[in-house]
Amino acid sequence: MDFSRRAMLGAMGGLAVGGSIAAMSGNVIAAPAAPVMSPGKDGHFMQMHGEFGWKPHKIDDIAAAMDVAYKGYWYKGYGCGYGAFYAIVGTMAEKYGAPYNTFPFTIMEMFKGGFGDWGTICGALAGAGAAFSVFYGRKESKPMVNELFRWYETTAFPIYNPGEAAQGFKGDLPTSVSNSVLCHVSVSRWSYETKIPANSKQRSERCGRITADVAKKAIEILNAKIEAGKDWKGALAKQESVTQCGACHSKGKMSDIVKGNMDCTPCHSGNEHLGNKFVNHP
Ligand code: HEC
Ligand code: HEC
Repeated sequence: MDFSRRAMLGAMGGLAVGGSIAAMSGNVIAAPAAPVMSPGKDGHFMQMHGEFGWKPHKIDDIAAAMDVAYKGYWYKGYGCGYGAFYAIVGTMAEKYGAPYNTFPFTIMEMFKGGFGDWGTICGALAGAGAAFSVFYGRKESKPMVNELFRWYETTAFPIYNPGEAAQGFKGDLPTSVSNSVLCHVSVSRWSYETKIPANSKQRSERCGRITADVAKKAIEILNAKIEAGKDWKGALAKQESVTQCGACHSKGKMSDIVKGNMDCTPCHSGNEHLGNKFVNHP
């Protein structure tokens, strides 16, 4: 058997055996640090650095992160979820390196178009929420999500304007409030109100700008959370409808048949837009 260094590297997969090669040949090759794995129940559910084991860092230059969010949206068309997540975890990766730079960021492309173009959750919200979850378990991340989502439901978007650096459309864009965290409602309502097609460059531009807006709010929440620790609380109260309807439609109440915290109004107010469109409709 050929024990030359090259043959060993080829046979055993290169760097991974760097340490043993160094031991045999006397060459100084840095062996990669052994990952800290946390085995869960019955030896399954291993996770490098433990569960929620990455340390969150405050992001001071929010304007720079918004620029990254906007550019991330356009970068190879990876979209809103990628842009929002990268603006947070990617910013830490660029500044601090590992472990943040080991995250497979492109996983976030799936959130584009409300998850695989299904128009469900707004991908920017999903990306930002996932970034919270890199660092905090549900008990701590849920209030952060509540704050972000309630803000999103009631904010007129888009706010951010990249000026001359705009990649889809330059200039001001009209705004609308979606009252919903759903991509479908957010986009469709905006397109209906502005008469700008959902499949247009302007609409893409709108979503690129919203990616920056959501990244900004998410970073503000994360920074405040890091500052306050376990005691952090959001400022926004539960939506009126969720409180009102939840008086009966929630755990332990007379009609426990509802799940979720979205504003009930857009879908259950019986407004003209939600009538039967399968009859007498153009
Ligand atoms: C005073 C209690 C109460 C409140 C408040 C309440 N509901 Fe209900 N709701 C009920 C009960 C009881 C039913 C019957 C369903 C069942 O058997 O659990 C029902 C049924 C429904 C249904 C299914 C039947 C239907 O009419 O389509 C919907 C949808 C619904 N509620 C939505 C809402 C929404 C939205 C709100 C807030 C605007 C709300 N409810 C507030 C008690 C309440
Ligand atoms: C994005 C739209 C949307 C939002 C927001 C929403 N709902 Fe619904 N909800 C629906 C749809 C669609 C159904 C299924 C209706 C059906 O059965 O045809 C449903 C079903 C229900 C039902 C079961 C009865 C039924 O008609 O099937 C209740 C009760 C209900 N919703 C209450 C609520 C409450 C309370 C909220 C706010 C906390 C809420 N919903 C938010 C769209 C929505």
